[in-house]
Amino acid sequence: MTTADEYRLLGFTDADREDAEKLSVDPAAVAEFATELRRLMGTFPAEDELKVPDDPLVSVATFLATLPDIRRYHQQRGIPDEISWATLADLGKQLDVNRRTHGSFGLETHWWMTIHWTGVIYALGRLQFLLHQLPASTPVPGVEPGEWVIGVHIPESGPLTPEAVDASFAQAREFFPRYFPEYPVRIATLGSWLLDPYLLDNLPQDSNTVRFGRRFTPYGEPRDSQDSAIFFTFRSHDLTKLDEFPQDTTLQRLIVSRIKSGGTWQTAHGYLTL
Ligand SMILES: CC(C)(COP(=O)(O)OP(=O)(O)OC[C@H]1O[C@@H](n2cnc3c(N)ncnc32)[C@H](O)[C@@H]1OP(=O)(O)O)[C@@H](O)C(=O)NCCC(=O)NCCS
Repeated sequence: MTTADEYRLLGFTDADREDAEKLSVDPAAVAEFATELRRLMGTFPAEDELKVPDDPLVSVATFLATLPDIRRYHQQRGIPDEISWATLADLGKQLDVNRRTHGSFGLETHWWMTIHWTGVIYALGRLQFLLHQLPASTPVPGVEPGEWVIGVHIPESGPLTPEAVDASFAQAREFFPRYFPEYPVRIATLGSWLLDPYLLDNLPQDSNTVRFGRRFTPYGEPRDSQDSAIFFTFRSHDLTKLDEFPQDTTLQRLIVSRIKSGGTWQTAHGYLTL
């Protein structure tokens, strides 16, 4: 049973806590997914090694059921409580994103939360850092496939100021050698719509986004991903609603005007030395 305190630490809104308390899903499906998560915790599973349940609500129930397990894993590694909870609180954020996107309780991004629940991603200040081996499919110049690197992720939690980003990277440089000494890291990678070359050329050059993006050296070929730009900006997947999206900010106007003029937003990759 998840306690009120745990729901709070997991970042649940009141509406999502109420719905979570009423959650009724197949206990066998929860038990099966819980066994998988426990087996893979701390093993750095490859992306295709963990299959999420068909029903995202089974995943929600399983994340709650295995909260003691992932908390124990963090404790065994010596990870401070504050970092452990800040990391796991992405569950509450993602439930809230689901509610804003679809208007209801759910967890569209349940695959994403398996990363937290297998113990490979950590929230350190403004950013999240995912420890993994560089896949051969996206080579980084000067880095051997299989080398341990950290993937940078940007939660939606306020402005991405240069000071907050500097502080996050400073934390990462200390955190990984201390708590994961057997996986030495020297490179951070980012794969994101925030690195779309068009975005970096067309947002104001002194914006947080451009200043953040310019920290990374581009590698690989950008690939089309219209959905990322509208999902992360408008929390919608519906390209037929372009005329309904708010047009209050520079970013919102840029996203819509590019699509309307026939353009396609992209995801691009970059890296930096820690
Ligand atoms: C990345 C992010 C933190 C940047 O926020 P920020 O620091 O406020 O951004 P900037 O200073 O670069 O903003 C430049 C302009 O874009 C606007 N803007 C930035 N992010 C916005 C968003 N998510 N929605 C609407 N407008 C946004 C700002 O208001 C500003 O416009 P203005 O001058 O007209 O007010 C923010 O866009 C965000 O939370 N995104 C969702 C998370 C995400 O995309 N993660 C990466 C997933 S791969």
